[in-house]
Amino acid sequence: MKIGIGCDHAGYEGPPPLYKPSIIEYLQKKGYEVIDYGTFGPESVDYPDYAKALCEGLIKGEIERGILICGTGIGVSMSANRFPGIRATVCTTPLMAQLARTHNNSNVLCLGRRILTIEQCYEIIDIWLNTPFSGEERHQRRLEKLDKLGEFKC
Ligand code: RB5
Repeated sequence: MKIGIGCDHAGYEGPPPLYKPSIIEYLQKKGYEVIDYGTFGPESVDYPDYAKALCEGLIKGEIERGILICGTGIGVSMSANRFPGIRATVCTTPLMAQLARTHNNSNVLCLGRRILTIEQCYEIIDIWLNTPFSGEERHQRRLEKLDKLGEFKC
């Protein structure tokens, strides 16, 4: 599976471990191909820019899933969910990671550098990558309704 990763400066926030490089290494050691959509250092940047780069990659089919990191996971998830077809989920526990896949068919995982330890990130990533969508009718129906919300006109 090809996985995209992106972050704002929180992905390079000290003290070590620096989360984005650590997660890239973790995924590559497990055999995943990883595409890095930036940012590439600790200078302050705007999280919508990096969520946008990754979501565009996912929509174009460059990657199958994406992982975004910011301080809390909130800013990148708010950004990513503006894109049609993106189902971005902040996950802070293993149960959230499991349900984000089985119920919500999450295709972008949002992690908080200031919320989770790197070990908690690894555990959440493993569950999120290895849990299939349940495909149950009620969940599919809700996701179809979610897509239609984008058609709402004020
Ligand atoms: C940046 O300081 C911080 O606001 C950002 O990483 C994120 O947590 C926003 O939701």
